[in-house]
Amino acid sequence: MKDILTELENRRNEARLGGGQKRIDAQHGRGKLTARERIDLLLDEGSFEEFDMFVSHRCTDFGMENQKPAGDGVVTGWGTINGRMVYVFSQDFTVFGGSLSETHAQKICKIMDMAIQNGAPVIGINDSGGARIQEGVASLAGYAEVFQRNIMASGVVPQISVIMGPCAGGAVYSPAMTDFIFMVKDTSYMFVTGPDVVKTVTNEVVTAEELGGASTHTKKSSVADGAFENDVEALAEVRRLVDFLPLNNREKPPVRPFFDSPERVETSLDTLIPDNPNTPYDMKELITKVADEGDFYEIQEDYAKNIITGFIRLEGQTVGVVANQPMVLAGCLDIDSSRKAARFVRFCDCFEIPILTFVDVPGFLPGTSQEYGGVIKHGAKLLFAYGEATVPKVTVITRKAYGGAYDVMASKHLRGDFNYAWPTAEIAVMGAKGATEIIHRADLGNDEKIAQHAQDYENRFANPFVAAERGFIDEVIMPQSTRRRVSRAFASLRNKKLKNPWKKHDNIPL
Ligand code: HXC
Repeated sequence: MKDILTELENRRNEARLGGGQKRIDAQHGRGKLTARERIDLLLDEGSFEEFDMFVSHRCTDFGMENQKPAGDGVVTGWGTINGRMVYVFSQDFTVFGGSLSETHAQKICKIMDMAIQNGAPVIGINDSGGARIQEGVASLAGYAEVFQRNIMASGVVPQISVIMGPCAGGAVYSPAMTDFIFMVKDTSYMFVTGPDVVKTVTNEVVTAEELGGASTHTKKSSVADGAFENDVEALAEVRRLVDFLPLNNREKPPVRPFFDSPERVETSLDTLIPDNPNTPYDMKELITKVADEGDFYEIQEDYAKNIITGFIRLEGQTVGVVANQPMVLAGCLDIDSSRKAARFVRFCDCFEIPILTFVDVPGFLPGTSQEYGGVIKHGAKLLFAYGEATVPKVTVITRKAYGGAYDVMASKHLRGDFNYAWPTAEIAVMGAKGATEIIHRADLGNDEKIAQHAQDYENRFANPFVAAERGFIDEVIMPQSTRRRVSRAFASLRNKKLKNPWKKHDNIPL
């Protein structure tokens, strides 16, 4: 009996070594942790339960029958993050470069199936040279099996991808179908075809970092939702994100202890809006002043900065925030910001996370590049996402809410539950100058008359009361009381029940 126990321990130790000490040292030499070290940092201490530690590949080509490391390049299992269950897979670059074989894929599929069945998030740590070249189509089939599960899990359990090494070829499409992608600066990259192929096909010379590094995907392409300095920081931030999310679509998000009174008054907010309506101010100040303990988890911080998306808590409960940022492009809606916010709103709606919207929007960005780029379709994504969302929706207009953008930004007409405005709100079809030049075209050239018309327009429309008279604004509130009003609004909506008509699925303008 003792021999059998010793053999088990020996086999386990061998499996834990993956591709061997030399390759582990090389991994560390690149500033990267190993697959198991990453799992240890991600999960609560001692909570990891491994599956399939002894699975090995079945390939017999290219001498592969003589190299059969236990585990086949991916560590899979489940554990907890602050006591809440998650499934995890972590690719082991020390085994055939973390490449995906048929059996490697089967291991990932096994935990994804369990995650869907048992209702817990899936966190994938990607560090892989892509399809296992020696296995050919068996490996491609393996990827497709994973893709199919990503699709089935979407909207059922949260899926998070952490890119901690290469992620090339079709391999990028599994992360692309998950809810959030995080990257590590300088050690991770994602692309469909690498720099060499790019050079051959398009003659462009580009480095891997420029083509698909963390900076590219968080600032230019918006493929990734966040970039971190190193593996340790990235995994700590994933833990922080998981704390905001429900385990699945049948559960509510977790309620955390809070030490910040929902009654807290912020008198500084009464002077947040500058006297000059064209002077910007930082919308993040409002978000952090409203949030429990000022804690804000921002998503896509470096992309389309004219809109802000992320999570806060109110009375310990998760709330998704969408807010126009007057500091960038005056907070207007454009293609990028509409896409960014639409995806975020849909994530919140999938997982029963209430949505708080702060509005200061002068309208959609005009111009040929926007029109040629399809701003109509992209803007419609956000409109559609807000309109179809059935979660509690609370909106506060701080300043401008002009034109179509007023409608889009979680207005009353899109089933907003509470639509508040600050006294500084200006709700109109357009700004006074533009409006005057259209409806008083005959007076153009007469500066005095035009100025008078603009003043009349401003007096009539640059306020929240016209909308409030119609009930489109439920209440004009003091800025200082925003946290209290919004917290109470969400508290009153905890039992909200709203269903859309039966359909197979909708046809959001993609
Ligand atoms: C098998 C692989 C491998 C792969 C790497 N290795 N990629 N083995 N299949 N795809 C092995 C190497 O042979 C090497 O083994 C070890 O992993 C480390 O690789 P190195 O090249 O030494 O490391 P590095 O210099 O850091 O380069 C990493 C890399 C490079 C950039 C990932 O290995 C690479 O370009 N690999 C090929 C990438 C690729 O073309 N994949 C297929 C993409 S197409 P030893 O024994 O020496 O340690 C695809 C289709 C998916 O994925 C389609 C889904 C629909």
